[in-house]
Amino acid sequence: MKRGKIQLWGVGAAGLLVAGVLIWWFVAEIPDTRLGNPATESVQSLESTQIEIGRTTYQANCAQCHGANAEGQPFWQQRNTDGTLKPPPHDETGHTWHHSDGLLFRIVRDGGTIYETPGFKSSMPAFGDRLSSEEIKAVITYFKSLWGPEIRSSQAEVSQRDPFP
Ligand code: HEC
Repeated sequence: MKRGKIQLWGVGAAGLLVAGVLIWWFVAEIPDTRLGNPATESVQSLESTQIEIGRTTYQANCAQCHGANAEGQPFWQQRNTDGTLKPPPHDETGHTWHHSDGLLFRIVRDGGTIYETPGFKSSMPAFGDRLSSEEIKAVITYFKSLWGPEIRSSQAEVSQRDPFP
């Protein structure tokens, strides 16, 4: 082959490479939702609506005890002198995330009485007569939005055996 021809092939190959990189870059830049997965998109927007409803419900009903940002009361791990508990956090620093969706739902609906033993009186009120099932689920979905991916996936695993009713 002549020298000139080899150079031409070289330029052609380089051109193809550049075009390939550009196409790859362009496709990679498009967010997933724009590639059109309507199912994922609607699940995402359903969840963000639920989080918003949950946040509002939380502020109106739970924040006075569990804290404006679900941080719980200071020294929540120490019992009060009468043996009752302080409201714990619902963010990652608490243990709300150890419980399944089903149990969390029952605690909020029926209150802490489900925890009561002869020597222990719960201070967690029941909300079953004030909040709808949807609002209770929304509040729990709001807590979950405060957790990181690892905690969320471990809680999701626990919830498989005991999901929301
Ligand atoms: C009057 C104060 C008070 C209010 C209001 C309140 N809680 Fe509680 N909550 C507590 C206390 C205290 C506990 C600790 C357990 C106990 O005493 O039974 C608790 C425990 C919980 C738990 C169990 C957490 C765990 O880690 O085991 C959940 C879940 C919970 N509350 C959710 C809520 C939600 C959701 C709301 C609002 C709809 C709410 N609480 C409103 C006082 C309150």
